[in-house]
Amino acid sequence: MASTSAVSTSSFVVVANRLPVDRVELPDGGTDWRTSPGGLVTALEPVMRRNEGAWVGWHGAPDEELAPFENDGLTLVPVPLSAGEVSDYYEGFSNATLWPLYHDVVAYPEYHREWWDAYVQVNQRFADAAAKAADTDAVVWVQDYQLQLVPQMLRAQRPDLKIGFFLHIPFPPVELFQQLPWRRQVLEGLLGADLVGFQMPGAAQNFTRLVRQRLGHSTQRDRIAHPDGRETVARTYPISIDSQGFADLANDPRTVARAEEIRKDLGSPRKILLGVDRLDYTKGLRQRIRAFGELVRDGQVDPDEVIFVQVATPSRERVDQYRRLRDDIDRLVGRINGEIGRIGRPPITYLHHSYPREEMAALYRAADLMIVTPLRDGMNLVAKEYVACRDGDNGALVLSEFAGAAAQLKQAYLVNPHDINGMKDAMLEALEASPKELARRMKALRKQVFENNIDRWADTFLTDLHALR
Ligand code: ADP
Ligand code: F6P
Repeated sequence: MASTSAVSTSSFVVVANRLPVDRVELPDGGTDWRTSPGGLVTALEPVMRRNEGAWVGWHGAPDEELAPFENDGLTLVPVPLSAGEVSDYYEGFSNATLWPLYHDVVAYPEYHREWWDAYVQVNQRFADAAAKAADTDAVVWVQDYQLQLVPQMLRAQRPDLKIGFFLHIPFPPVELFQQLPWRRQVLEGLLGADLVGFQMPGAAQNFTRLVRQRLGHSTQRDRIAHPDGRETVARTYPISIDSQGFADLANDPRTVARAEEIRKDLGSPRKILLGVDRLDYTKGLRQRIRAFGELVRDGQVDPDEVIFVQVATPSRERVDQYRRLRDDIDRLVGRINGEIGRIGRPPITYLHHSYPREEMAALYRAADLMIVTPLRDGMNLVAKEYVACRDGDNGALVLSEFAGAAAQLKQAYLVNPHDINGMKDAMLEALEASPKELARRMKALRKQVFENNIDRWADTFLTDLHALR
């Protein structure tokens, strides 16, 4: 690999597990770059475009060392991972220990000492790469649960830096976090930052409470005092999207035409319901598909008039829980379509693919009802993307109370995804609502999403970080 010491330094550095693009192998043996999955990349890409800086992250392929490079106007600094580290640090500790633990234990978290060792080793590599990429007194913004030790490791080498950390996923209640055998090290890792940001006030409170109880630091509201006199602040910054960017894309004549084509291809139904998610067990896919299946089976929804499109991006496919989920969803959709579908009219269209953003915008535009039902979600950007892509105050959002977005998108049809009957009622209510009622709700949702865009999120965080030291 071209060593990261060749990197010219920047005054603003973002450090995230993934770069915005993944290096993928093509069927003909060649390689290509593709947009990385997930909300973190969607949110941070426009921030990086507006602030000159370097993005330090993994490029998605194992055992490959790459030199820093420019891609589409962004400076990218790849951090290599071996196949063993992908397995132990990424699939293991990040996505089979922390991910389920931080999402209310909706799946069982596994604790393995060798996974932890890999997590420490890889976090150190990211910290070293960030230290090399940062100018004197630079701002370094570390992202998400995969890199919770980086703030402390970075501060140890570079006390001159201003270090921010943002957690994109929930931070669990004290009672759950206590399960983690390395709870102390994770808290100390995060406390290397000057400012630690969370999606929800409850998450920031969980963190400060843990720091008080486990580490004995004194805290005053959002301020944590270190024994050496330093201070860390823990605050809430609900993340958002490039709302206008999505709106512009959705209003592009090509997107408008594509949305019409999608409706036609689906048989021009009266109403289209849409789900868009990474294929993840936190997203409540089973529950929403069951709810829709029952509505059709019981005759409350006519499959000639209403159809459901579920788009699921392949995600973390080598992790057991994800593999099982994929099989479960395949079976469930197959069973429902087999039982209640007719020739050429499956009530559920299930697409297990990733699509370009233009196609996502066309899907959002084509959909009358967006169904977002996570069992737990840090924010959920899909809900905001749908709202930004409406062509006016129409359409409806059915949204889980357990998504961070519910705290802001209060005029959505809010549901408890564990309550299948409640979800059926909400879907019916939204399907049958008058245009006036839909407009009343959508107007308020759009105001929220356009006023609180990603620039505002980043500006607020970075202004606070600058003000702290
Ligand atoms: P998470 O961060 O857990 O993946 P979010 O809802 O916050 O959840 O973000 C998901 C992001 O991934 C959104 O920007 C969404 O548009 C994108 N996305 C989801 N499914 C697909 C897909 N099938 N193809 C392309 N992009 C997708
Ligand atoms: O915060 C959500 C998140 O986990 C990001 O950290 C991540 O980049 C994205 O979802 C997609 O997941 P992955 O990188 O594991 O494919």
